Amino acid sequence: MAKTPKLDLTQRPRRLRRQPSRRALVAETVVRAADLIAPLFVVEGKARPEPIASMPGVFRLCIDDLVKECRELHKLGVPAVALFPKLSPKLKDEEGSEALNPETLVLRAVRAVKKAVPELTVITDVALDPYTSHGHDGVLNDAKDDVDNDRTVTILGRMAVLQAEAGVDFVAPSDMMDGRVGHIRKSLDAAGFTDAGILAYSAKYNSAYYGPFRDAVGSAQAAGTRLLSKATYQMNPANRREAVSEVQLDVAEGADIVMVKPAGAYLDIIREVRNAVRVPVAAYQVSGEYAQIHAAARLGWLDLARCRDESLLAIKRAGADMILTYFAKEVAKQLR
Ligand code: PBG
Repeated sequence: MAKTPKLDLTQRPRRLRRQPSRRALVAETVVRAADLIAPLFVVEGKARPEPIASMPGVFRLCIDDLVKECRELHKLGVPAVALFPKLSPKLKDEEGSEALNPETLVLRAVRAVKKAVPELTVITDVALDPYTSHGHDGVLNDAKDDVDNDRTVTILGRMAVLQAEAGVDFVAPSDMMDGRVGHIRKSLDAAGFTDAGILAYSAKYNSAYYGPFRDAVGSAQAAGTRLLSKATYQMNPANRREAVSEVQLDVAEGADIVMVKPAGAYLDIIREVRNAVRVPVAAYQVSGEYAQIHAAARLGWLDLARCRDESLLAIKRAGADMILTYFAKEVAKQLR
């Protein structure tokens, strides 16, 4: 057989892909355990871990189990957790008053975790949806046809101070009310918590990918089927420039870290935001992103571990400095 003559190529990009060690040498992006933040759900009492059907492998934990989980995450090199309370419907009302109870579940959880693992960074959501009977992130106006922005912001400021008193490292306003970051910063400073940071859910979209989370915390009522939709405060998925405006407003108001949420379907937004600001950028790989990888894997259609790793790599490559992900623990284990 005649030998094929070699092409006269100066550049052969395949040279850099020859074997694993060459590929490792030229890898532009790495995901480290130190990039990950584990979202965790907490429940009252001494219950056994409660599975969440739409989030395989994720459980609602009582405070004792939560503390154990936080110890393990810390040992695995995961630097931070984000805590979400699941409240009994009995504690919910129109005003979300339980959010201002100094002994409310999430505050007890924060104290327990900070006592047991003080080096772990603890983050808590500032929004009323776990506490309101209607599931909205704020309180309603008199006509009940809108979330009352300014009254909600006042409540969120008090909520943030309670969280700082309990010892959180970052409060994370996830409500998307106008002016909340500035008001929370002023409230924290006035109460002496100048070291408590703000991780702002700055570009939070009105996304269908939050479904499983709403099952997890029982806030599905407000998902948008009723007259008042979360679309009146969360961003329209159609918008990109607006994300930059939101992020710049939050930085101007005092956000230490800004966040884009969801992540996987919003990689362009992550990149845009990364290029627009100098503060660290977080991305939230939300419950629905986690669920869809699991669902396809369960059907045998996708490889769970490879899709998981690729999804996180893509989020980092897009420009995220840190990722909130329900995969945090298993990825950290694998990286060990
Ligand atoms: C609530 C909140 C939501 C999520 C984080 N904080 C849901 C919502 O806005 O309804 C979603 C997270 C996820 O889907 O994993 N303010």
